[in-house]
Amino acid sequence: MDMTLGFWVALVMAIVPLAGWLLWWWNDFWYALPVRLRRLKLPPGYMGIPFLGEMLAFLWYFKVLRRPDDYINSKRRKYGDEVGLYRTHLFGSPAIIACTPSANKFVLQTESSFFLEWPSVELVGKTSLVAVQGASHTTVRSFVVRAINQPDALRTIALMVQPRLIAALKLWKQNGRIRVYKEAKKVTFANIGRYFASFEPGPVLDTLDELFKGLTEGIRAYPLNFPGTAYYRALQCRKKAVAIFREELERRRKFDGSKAKNDLMEGLMQTKDDEGKELSDIEVLDNIVSLVVGGYTSTSLAIMWAFYYLAMYPDVLEKLREEHLPIAKKLNGDFITYAEISSCKYTSKVVEEIIRLANIAAFIFRTAKTDIEYKGYTIPKGWKVVCWLRYLHTNPENFEDPMSFNPDRWNEPPKPGSYLVFGGGSRICAGNMLARLQVAILIHHLVVGYRWELVNPNAGMSYLPHPKPADEVEVDIREI
Ligand code: HEM
Repeated sequence: MDMTLGFWVALVMAIVPLAGWLLWWWNDFWYALPVRLRRLKLPPGYMGIPFLGEMLAFLWYFKVLRRPDDYINSKRRKYGDEVGLYRTHLFGSPAIIACTPSANKFVLQTESSFFLEWPSVELVGKTSLVAVQGASHTTVRSFVVRAINQPDALRTIALMVQPRLIAALKLWKQNGRIRVYKEAKKVTFANIGRYFASFEPGPVLDTLDELFKGLTEGIRAYPLNFPGTAYYRALQCRKKAVAIFREELERRRKFDGSKAKNDLMEGLMQTKDDEGKELSDIEVLDNIVSLVVGGYTSTSLAIMWAFYYLAMYPDVLEKLREEHLPIAKKLNGDFITYAEISSCKYTSKVVEEIIRLANIAAFIFRTAKTDIEYKGYTIPKGWKVVCWLRYLHTNPENFEDPMSFNPDRWNEPPKPGSYLVFGGGSRICAGNMLARLQVAILIHHLVVGYRWELVNPNAGMSYLPHPKPADEVEVDIREI
């Protein structure tokens, strides 16, 4: 009897550690071993446990410790930083992390070797800029960039966004205390409604706002399409949002020649490429939907961070006032123009610094089309590459004293490849100038007319899905 018990105890004591060891290295056996057997050298790293990979470690640094950059720092300590790549398994896929300027530049600019694969093409629209590849991407991109990101468009948009922004600031002052992120989303969406499809505030815009909230939630959800899932709901929201925009588009086609709207829909409907080709209706609609997705949350977050950093750094605020008060005096109540805002050199540096530290897109994804070699290491075909943009902007090797808010650092250009807040290569953000413009215009009206203080200057940070103070920047705001 004793001997049988002893046997089982010994067996369990041998099996449990073995099973633990196998589980611990499972993904390395499963994904990395076959690559090694082909005599290819993988970047250093660890691929984690079955299914989850390294997600628990990732969440530990981002959600529990709230020191997101230490996730990469721990890898650098463990595996060295010779190549700027680490193998891992994250977000459901074997992956290579790229965290140095040169590795990111390589991935984003070697477009023949990597493709951008949206997990939810159905949600952003099959013919939208973010979903199309190759030559179609070049064509659609030229339409979109012309409609929202080039000086002609920006001149119009600059004037178009100001009435709602000025009205919002007045309302916020009347309320006295506001949660900036929530309010920034409202005014950003009102402006999107105006310059995307000339929708004025009212029931249609409120419905669209709700639909886009549902749609955005689905983009981050696992693509399980049955009633009850976030993805299913997002698809329904997309359908309804497209129907609203389609109704407007068809109305415009019917009443062709009616008053010019000067908005994105009109721009996309009318622009022709070099060969005289126009976008089809579904291309117009898919692109409007995906541009709302690209511009809504990102612009609202940038506005939120502008309030935050200018409250935290009064010397910067003072310098901004020096730049803007003479302009405001000259304008005497008129709107600031694109040319005037573009001439504000200090403001441009402040905007850049806000966007650098906001790290709105912490990482972006690519997939390797074939086995790709970089500095003697292989990125295997089909693996994801996670361009860890956040780390570029918070690494002291790229930016001195990186966590301090210092617009003057922009007196010098950043090191090549170290500043990729808007991505890089042919997929660099199609709304980057528009985003900068909107933050600059907000700064103008805010600094000349208002004072505000953070209610919780020591609020903790949350980092997922985007970095934000826990109170979403609550401020007390009043007129100067
Ligand atoms: C501060 C605000 C913003 C940030 C930080 C940001 C960041 C980015 C990044 C990192 C990418 C590259 C994605 C990739 O390569 O996988 C991107 C692409 C894109 N962004 Fe933005 N974005 C911002 C604002 C906007 C705005 C205002 C719009 C439009 C209204 C916009 C529309 C787009 C589009 C359409 C793409 C896809 C471009 C392509 O595939 O060719 N973004 N953005």
